[in-house]
Amino acid sequence: MSTRIAKRLSRLGTETAFAVSAEAAAFSAGGNRIYPFHLGDMNIPTPENIIEATVRAMKDGKTGYCPNYGIPQLREILADDINRSHGTNYTAGNVAIQPGGKPVINKFFLAMMDPGDEVLYPSPGYPIYESQIEFHGGRAIPYKYVEGENNFELAMGEIEESITPKTRLLVLNDLQNPTGAECSDEELQKVAELAQKHDLFVLCDEAYFDIRYEGRSHSLASLPGMEERCLILYTFSKRFAMTGWRLGAAVGPKDLIDVIAKLNVNDESCSNHFIQYGAIEGLTGDKSGPEEILRVLKDRRDKTVEILDTIEGVRCFKPNATFYLFPNVTAAMKKKGLTDYEQFRKSALHETGVSFCTRRHFGRPLPDETELYIRLAYSGIDTNQIEEGLAKFKTFVEK
Ligand SMILES: Cc1ncc(COP(=O)(O)O)c(C=O)c1O
Repeated sequence: MSTRIAKRLSRLGTETAFAVSAEAAAFSAGGNRIYPFHLGDMNIPTPENIIEATVRAMKDGKTGYCPNYGIPQLREILADDINRSHGTNYTAGNVAIQPGGKPVINKFFLAMMDPGDEVLYPSPGYPIYESQIEFHGGRAIPYKYVEGENNFELAMGEIEESITPKTRLLVLNDLQNPTGAECSDEELQKVAELAQKHDLFVLCDEAYFDIRYEGRSHSLASLPGMEERCLILYTFSKRFAMTGWRLGAAVGPKDLIDVIAKLNVNDESCSNHFIQYGAIEGLTGDKSGPEEILRVLKDRRDKTVEILDTIEGVRCFKPNATFYLFPNVTAAMKKKGLTDYEQFRKSALHETGVSFCTRRHFGRPLPDETELYIRLAYSGIDTNQIEEGLAKFKTFVEK
């Protein structure tokens, strides 16, 4: 007898990068060498001072439930930290601690979207937006990024054309997964104007705000009139190499934060208690850990781009932020006589051990897409492995 699952589950998507991961793990278990570029996980350790502060908190008995909003000290320190980088005016009341950044997405749509509401979201983009919008009965309206001179750019005109009287929400993942795109000041300004003109509320997914090698990150929430129209998805995952710890926050208008904390009560009661003391140490303690994380990632980015640039039929930008590259492989695939992403991905995996995701893993393709892309994450692979793997990939593509 098969279990009868609720019908609404047919609308729930998934993060198919995890399936690529399972496939790579199975290939590796068969005795094959793998070069893991597929998952945005990190093989860089969490800074020691964060680990020590967490262990101390555990030994000090911070092992029971804590407030649904998170511990007051962390909420206040995080608000101050964001104010410093964003120029905003948040207080502890604007922060609800979460078990990771990802839960903010589900809670945002639960709190802000009624069935039938239209939501603009990026495609290619983090696949959970599309999944959660549709699961909760919204209409997912994709917008795209196009290749500009130095990096991908928002297709701004199309965003405006997609807005209808039913459009209520916009998802902006500036410093973007998978493209590595970041908005210029002018683009951010235009997005703010659109949001205000059409009365849109924005989920600012800032998972990669602090993964930046040059220059400064800017936030939509910093612009005049936008603090009250934005919910920031904050996460400790990438900035402090804490992906498996599961700690993040929703930061935004107090009335929305109160609703999100009520969802916390219903979902997980509270986020892991003692880890929050580790997060305080991350935000207030020695900065050499996060600096080292960025140094390691920058070396890997430089090496990956340097090698990709030598591969015939591959074209790649060098983004200043995130740990993703989104090379155009249209010519490379054509050269190999392939039009199907899965064929390209699987034959690269089986012939070279190089494992990556393709554009197909980042939301439904738009009808007018002609160019083909893959995503390489360099957060979970050392530089010498990057060199070895991409040398094999180059031979695979060019032979
Ligand atoms: C764009 C984006 N948003 C949110 C997340 C969620 O991160 P976490 O739940 O680890 O904080 C990720 C993770 O890869 C991401 O790429």
